[in-house]
Amino acid sequence: MVNYKVKGAIAVICVDNPPVNAVSIGVPAGVINELQKATSDPVIKGIILHGAGRGFIAGADIKEFGKPRPPGEPTLLDLVSALENSSKPVVAAIHGMALGGGLEIAMACNYRTAIKDAKLGQPEVKIGLPPGAGGTQRLPRLVGMEKALDMIVSGNPITARDGLNCRLVDEIVVELVGDTVDFLNQKLSETSTHPKVRDLTVDPSSTSMISNYKSKIEIKARGRNAPFACIECLQAAVDLPFDQGIAKEREIFEASIRSIESRAMRYVFFSERQVSKVPGINRETTTREIDSAAVLGAGTMGVGIAMNFANAGIPVKLLDQDQSLLDKGMAIIAKNYAATVRKGRLTQAAMDDRLELISTTLDFESLDEVDMVVEAVFEEMSLKKKIFRRLDSVCNKNAILASNTSYLNVNELAAQTSRAPNVLGTHFFSPANVMRLLEIIRAEKCSDETLASVMRLAKRMGKVGVISGVCPGFIGNRMLEGYFREAGFLIEEGALPHEVDKIITDFGFPMGPFAVWDLAGLDIGWRKRKAEADSRDPNERYSTIGDRLCEMGRFGQKTQAGYYRYEEGSRIPIPDRNVEKLVFQASDDAGITRRKITKQEILTRCLYPLINEGARILEEEIAIRASDIDIIYLYGYGFPNYRGGPMFYADT
Ligand code: 3HC
Ligand code: NAI
Repeated sequence: MVNYKVKGAIAVICVDNPPVNAVSIGVPAGVINELQKATSDPVIKGIILHGAGRGFIAGADIKEFGKPRPPGEPTLLDLVSALENSSKPVVAAIHGMALGGGLEIAMACNYRTAIKDAKLGQPEVKIGLPPGAGGTQRLPRLVGMEKALDMIVSGNPITARDGLNCRLVDEIVVELVGDTVDFLNQKLSETSTHPKVRDLTVDPSSTSMISNYKSKIEIKARGRNAPFACIECLQAAVDLPFDQGIAKEREIFEASIRSIESRAMRYVFFSERQVSKVPGINRETTTREIDSAAVLGAGTMGVGIAMNFANAGIPVKLLDQDQSLLDKGMAIIAKNYAATVRKGRLTQAAMDDRLELISTTLDFESLDEVDMVVEAVFEEMSLKKKIFRRLDSVCNKNAILASNTSYLNVNELAAQTSRAPNVLGTHFFSPANVMRLLEIIRAEKCSDETLASVMRLAKRMGKVGVISGVCPGFIGNRMLEGYFREAGFLIEEGALPHEVDKIITDFGFPMGPFAVWDLAGLDIGWRKRKAEADSRDPNERYSTIGDRLCEMGRFGQKTQAGYYRYEEGSRIPIPDRNVEKLVFQASDDAGITRRKITKQEILTRCLYPLINEGARILEEEIAIRASDIDIIYLYGYGFPNYRGGPMFYADT
């Protein structure tokens, strides 16, 4: 895990623990041993510490958290203190990433050199923790409180160039070890006292900056603990002498590590990496190149999906029924890109290139050469079937045919073609150019090659692809049904829409079920319910509130009235007395005596059906693993990531 070389009077210690040089058991012991070797060798005047492979050190080994350690085995903290107390100067030479414990190690050294595109950061907050090996005490001493707050509370890394400007990096180097040897020799020739970060001071007037920062994040970090734990540690850097600050940080870190928030976020970290591992698919699975594509339907979803292809550099044809719809679609695409350019996230030239990749057509025959087609026409089985038959006859025989259907049976669509192994579902989420989730629906006869090709495409589009089997609504939408149904019953029994929504947003969802309904439009469900009215089981409980709202023309945001009312041009839901009256009347008509509904009842009645459906989905092997379900809910439905997703939440 650790090796040692000598270059003249300089010892070079290298951590070699692939893939990311995490500080696993054995790494601290290895480095401490080599450090002792270097300090006891009279020839050696200074020491360089660097990482092999992709980067410096990516932090503590997250897999080892909460697991027993061999007794007496040195820890990251022992390593940090050995570096800081080294009798010979130590330089951390950084390339790639110095993250978490990696940056803490670097800050315990006397100097830091870095390759210009190296990244340095304290991302612990993203796994529900404050830094725990001195990061909150050393970073503000080095870079000042403002920068330290930003880096530690956001968890976002900075570049080495930025690090140079804020004293985190002493010198930018080109040839990592060679140039760092020169740097260290220069320091040795200039001075015999080498700086230690612990000896720097923190500006005592930082307290007001810290409390301002805290109030600034209060709303965004609602429900979370780690950002506030970070702030508390940074406050300790102002209030306490160095060693006591370190002890305080440790205490807060230890408590955080046991928190559900940190357990959940570490679970999410590994679940995100697990999701692309699909039984039967591996490096040997052949994939097909997708170098050209077509999207059918230039509606809400079609335009976003076409943008995804263009963003991945793939030329795409957009097809619809008449030119005016295509023109409208292209205008939306141009508007979306222009907004990104305005925000500075895309250059005008890149926007032009992407637009150039999107062409329009009314002619099915022109799809004969494309490698993949995504169908995003109306959600009607007969229409989709007809389209799949047509595509099968027009497209080249290797082309992959995908449907963006939200609920329909993809196996039935595959059966319309002579190429079932090339057919699957690609369920994008709205807005498709923004949302990172892609449910990839593995139809019964879909080949491994097709699946692997689309998984690769998802990555190319910057999406998180999660595999689902075929069932109505697939994983995500199927689980929602019970959640919405119970929300509807709760208002019939005694709660009001804004009360239910508040409990759900307090839980951490960005919106409650009624605000979501208003956003999506109440008329869609109404039309569906009317169509199903004759076949509905009369013994099944049925709430009429949604229908009553629609009968009054309250279709949600688009009519400025639904479960809430909306001011002209505003999306802010305002509780409405008329809705209250309507709800009371509905309860009365249903013979229900309204009662006080507790917060806990609202939460459990909404969430448990969702969780139970997830369990059934697992049992039916529609999902590969529970954590895939959680990733779908985190990326597609706004489930709070610090609760890990519905299945993890159930386990807690
Ligand atoms: N511990 C254990 N395993 C880790 C790890 C870590 N800190 N960081 C990455 N890995 C593993 C991943 O799980 C993955 O394993 P897999 O191949 O089996 O799925 C493998 O290393 C490669 O990781 P990525 O797929 O993420 O590779 P990338 O190149 O995309 O990203 C990275 C590299 C930017 C380093 C990213 O992995 C990352 O952000 N890692 C986490 C960094 C972090 O949070 N560090 C702080 C740790 S906590 C800490 O240091 C506490 C201290 O303050 C006391
Ligand atoms: P939409 O109504 O906005 O757009 C559908 C488009 O398909 C229209 O422009 C229509 O003219 C076109 N179309 C209809 N018949 C056609 C034909 N024969 N040939 C060519 N084009 C035709 O619908 P939306 O919302 O984009 O949905 C499309 C699909 O995506 C549906 O299957 C839907 O269930 C699914 N979906 C929708 C989501 C959403 O939030 N809107 C989310 C995820 C999936």
